[in-house]
Amino acid sequence: MVSPLMKKSSSKLSVVRLGIVGLGNMGRYHVQTVLDGKIPGCQLTAVCDVDAPRLKPYAKLQTFTDYRELIRSGAIDALLVATPHYSHTPIGIAAFKAGLHVLMEKPISVHKADAQKLIAAYTNKKLVFAAMFNQRTDPHYQKIRELVQKGELGAIQRIQWTITDWFRSQAYYNSGGWRATWKGEGGGVLINQCVHNIDLYQWIFGMPQKIRAVCHIGRYHDIEVEDEVTATWEYANGTTASLITSTGEAPGVNRLEVAGDRGRLTLENGNLTFWRNEIPTSRYSRTTNEAYQVPATWKIEIPIRDRGEQHTGILKNFTNAILHGEKLLAPGVEGIHSVELINAMLLASFKDKAITLPIKAAEYDRLLQQLIRQSTFRKKVRRYRGAAGNYLLDC
Ligand SMILES: NC(=O)c1ccc[n+]([C@@H]2O[C@H](COP(=O)([O-])OP(=O)(O)OC[C@H]3O[C@@H](n4cnc5c(N)ncnc54)[C@H](O)[C@@H]3O)[C@@H](O)[C@H]2O)c1
Repeated sequence: MVSPLMKKSSSKLSVVRLGIVGLGNMGRYHVQTVLDGKIPGCQLTAVCDVDAPRLKPYAKLQTFTDYRELIRSGAIDALLVATPHYSHTPIGIAAFKAGLHVLMEKPISVHKADAQKLIAAYTNKKLVFAAMFNQRTDPHYQKIRELVQKGELGAIQRIQWTITDWFRSQAYYNSGGWRATWKGEGGGVLINQCVHNIDLYQWIFGMPQKIRAVCHIGRYHDIEVEDEVTATWEYANGTTASLITSTGEAPGVNRLEVAGDRGRLTLENGNLTFWRNEIPTSRYSRTTNEAYQVPATWKIEIPIRDRGEQHTGILKNFTNAILHGEKLLAPGVEGIHSVELINAMLLASFKDKAITLPIKAAEYDRLLQQLIRQSTFRKKVRRYRGAAGNYLLDC
C-alpha cells in the first residue's frame, strides 16, 4: 500500500537492485533481511567484501572483492555500505559519482571534514541518500520529538540523557582488528554505539551552541579510545543538556528526562511518562502568592506499543524513497550533525576547554591524526586480528 508520505516519484524503477558492501556482522544481517523478502521492491543482486571467503555463501549473486568493481558493474541501482567507518566516505563518494542511491551505515563518516566531502559529492538530488539511524523508527522517540516540536512541554529548560546500557566486554573489543583504535574505528563509545542516541538528541532537540566533556580513555577496557563520557551541552536559548554514556557499566540504564515549562517527560525501560503542569511553571511562579507550593500536575502514561521496525524499517523507507518518493526518515546529510557533536565532545575533552559549534573541521582532523600517530595499540591490533567472536547488533 502506498503510504501518505509518498509523493510523485522521480524514479522509473519498478524494483531496486541493491548491492551490499561489507559482509560482517551488520552487512550479513542486512543481506538476510533482503533475502528473507522483508523489503518489498528490493532485490539483492550483488555483494562485496575484501575478505573473499565471506562471499562464498552468496554464489547465486554477483560477488566482488573490490567495491569499485561492484560500483562499475551495472548490477545495482543502490548501495548499502556496511564497512568499517573510515571507508564510508570514499565508498559513498564513488557511489554518488556512478549515479547510485546510497544507504550509509552509521556513522556517515568519522570526522566532520570527511562528512563534508561525502555530502559535497551528493550533487544529484534525484539520488536518494539515507543513513542507517534505525532508532529513528522507534515510536517512543518519534512521540517525544512530536511533543517537543508541538510545544507540549513548553520552552525546554533541561535535558538529561544517561545511556550506560551499551556494555561491551573486552572480548568484544578484541573481536575485530579495526575496533577501538583511532586509526581503525576513529573513536570508541561515541562514534560506535552512542552515535544512535546522539543522532536522536539532535533530531529531537536540535544542535547546541557549546559543549564541555570528559571522555575517559580505556577506563574499563584495554583500548586506546573512550569508553565513558560525561558531557554538558548549552543551547542558544539557554537550554542545558547532559549526556552520559559508557560501555563499562552493568547494569546500565537508558533514561531520558526532559524538563520544560509545561512539565517533565521521562523515558525509561520503554515507559514514556509525562507529568503535565496545569499551568506553565513560569506563569505559576509569577502569579502565585504561595512561597513553597508547586503547580498542580497530571501524570500521563503515554502508551507506546513496540520498538519500531529498526533496520528493516530504514531499508524499507530507503527503497520506498527510490521507488515512490517516500520522505526519508533519516536523510544521509543529517548524519553530519552526530559526527560534529562527537568530534566536539572529544575535542572538548582532549583540549580541556569548552568548544563552540560549529567546530573547525581541520582542528579536529589535526587532533585525530595526532592520536593515530601516537597510537601504541598497533601490535595489539595485530595480535587480536582473526580472534573469534561474534556480538550482538549495536541497535
Ligand atoms: N546500525 C546498527 O545498529 C549497527 C550495528 C553494528 C554495526 N553497525 C555499523 O556497520 C558497519 C560495519 O560494522 P560491523 O560490525 O558489521 O563490522 P565487521 O568488522 O563485522 O564487518 C566489516 C566487514 O567489512 C569488510 N570490509 C572492510 N573494508 C572493506 C572494503 N573496503 N570493501 C569491502 N569490504 C570491506 C570486512 O572484511 C568485514 O567483513 C560499521 O559502520 C558499524 O558502525 C551498525
